[in-house]
Amino acid sequence: MGFEKLVFSKEAVHELLREYGSPLYVYDEETLRKRCQEMKNLMKYPLFRVNYSAKANTNVELLKIICSEGLDVDGMSPGEMHLEMKAGFSSDRITFIGNNVSRNELQFAVNQDILVSVDSLSQLRLLGEINRGGRVCLRINPGIGAGHHDKVITGGKKAKFGIAIEDLNLAQDIAANYDMTIIGLNHHIGSLFLESKAYVEAAAGILELAATLPSVEMVDLGGGFGIPYRHGIESRLDLAVLGNELDNLVEDWVASHRSINIRTEPGRYVVAECGALLGTVTAVKENYNTFFIGTDIGFNTLVRPVMYDSYHEISVVPQEDRPYQEYDKAVYVVGQICESGDILAHDRVFPCCQEGDALIVHDAGAYGFTMASNYNSRPLPAEILLEKNGGIRLIRKAQTLEDLWKD
Ligand code: LLP
Repeated sequence: MGFEKLVFSKEAVHELLREYGSPLYVYDEETLRKRCQEMKNLMKYPLFRVNYSAKANTNVELLKIICSEGLDVDGMSPGEMHLEMKAGFSSDRITFIGNNVSRNELQFAVNQDILVSVDSLSQLRLLGEINRGGRVCLRINPGIGAGHHDKVITGGKKAKFGIAIEDLNLAQDIAANYDMTIIGLNHHIGSLFLESKAYVEAAAGILELAATLPSVEMVDLGGGFGIPYRHGIESRLDLAVLGNELDNLVEDWVASHRSINIRTEPGRYVVAECGALLGTVTAVKENYNTFFIGTDIGFNTLVRPVMYDSYHEISVVPQEDRPYQEYDKAVYVVGQICESGDILAHDRVFPCCQEGDALIVHDAGAYGFTMASNYNSRPLPAEILLEKNGGIRLIRKAQTLEDLWKD
C-alpha cells in the first residue's frame, strides 16, 4: 500500500496533523500514477482509452497528474468540467455525462465544444434545440444493474439513469429531427465490482446495440472497478482476466462489424487507494457496555460509512509508545456530528485508544473529499500530496471559520 509506505512512522502522522490540522486528506502520487497505468493497460485493443470519472476526486492537482498519465475524463457538471479544464484537459478529452441537467448546463458544454452524453429523450430534445446538427452520445440503461449498495446501482428498471433500450428507435428519430449524429453509446451499471462477469456481460449487451447503429464510433463500457476495502479478506480485481475477456469480446465484435473506439470510465479504482484520511481521537468512553472511540472524523468529512455502511480499514497511531492491547469488546468509532448515525466504523476489533492518538482511515481517496460537507458548520479539511520525489505539498488549504460565511 503506497500510502502506508510513505506515512511510515507515528512521528510522520502526528507531524502532518500538527502542521496541516486534523482531519486531513493525504494522497500518494506514486500510487495514483500506478493505478492510472493499470487502467490504461487494461486492454490491448489499440483503440482503447480510459475516461477517469472525476466525481471520485476532483482535486485539481490530482487531476493534473491523471491528465499527465494520458487518461481522458468525464464531467457531471459545469463545476467538474471547469476543474478539468483548469487541470489541463482539452475539451476533446472531456465528456459531459449529464443526468437531468439544465439548459444552461448543456449550453456550457456546447460552448466549450465538449461532447455530451444525454440520458433521456427529454434531454436529447433539449440538446437538439441548443446544438442542432451536433454530435451526441446516448447513455443507455440496459435494464440490469450491479453495485456494492442499492444507492450505487445505476442500471436497472428502477434506476433513474439512461434511456431504456426499447426507446432507442425514438432516440434515433429525435436525433434525426435535429440533424444530430449519435456517435457514441455509454452505460454504467453500478459501482464496485470485484468479479468481472457482470461487467463483461453488460459490455456484450451494449456492443450488440452499437451493431444496430452504424453512426456509433465509440462505446463507453462504464466504470465500477472495485478495490479491496477489506484488506486481507477481499481479493483484488483481476485486471489481467478482465482485460483479456474484454479484448476477446471487442476483437470478435470488430471482426464481424467495424472498427470502434472503446472506453472505460473508472473513478474509484484510479484514486481510492492513493488517499487516506488522518484524524484524531478526541474522546474515549464506555457507555452501557459499549466502547465508543470519539474522533474528529464525522460524516461531514467522510460520508461513505454512513451513507452506504461502507467499510474502511482504520489504523491507530498512538501518541506515545505503549504496549499493544485490544478492547475485549467490539468497538464503535464515531465522529463529532450531532447525529446518532455518525458512525465511522462499528463492531470492530480495535486497539485500546487514548485521547490524542491519530487514526488513519485507509482507501479514502475516492468519494471522500468530494462528498464532504460543511454540516454542523465545520470547515472542510486540508488536502496534501506526498510527491514522488519525497516532497509534501499542500494541495488544498483547510477552510477557516471565515470561509463559512462570505458576502
Ligand atoms: N461513470 C458514471 C456515469 C458514473 O455514474 C460513475 C459513478 C462512474 C462512471 C464511476 O464509478 P466508479 O468506477 O467510481 O465505481 N459515492 C459512491 C459511488 C457512487 C458512484 C456514482 N457513479 C461510493 O462512495 O461508493
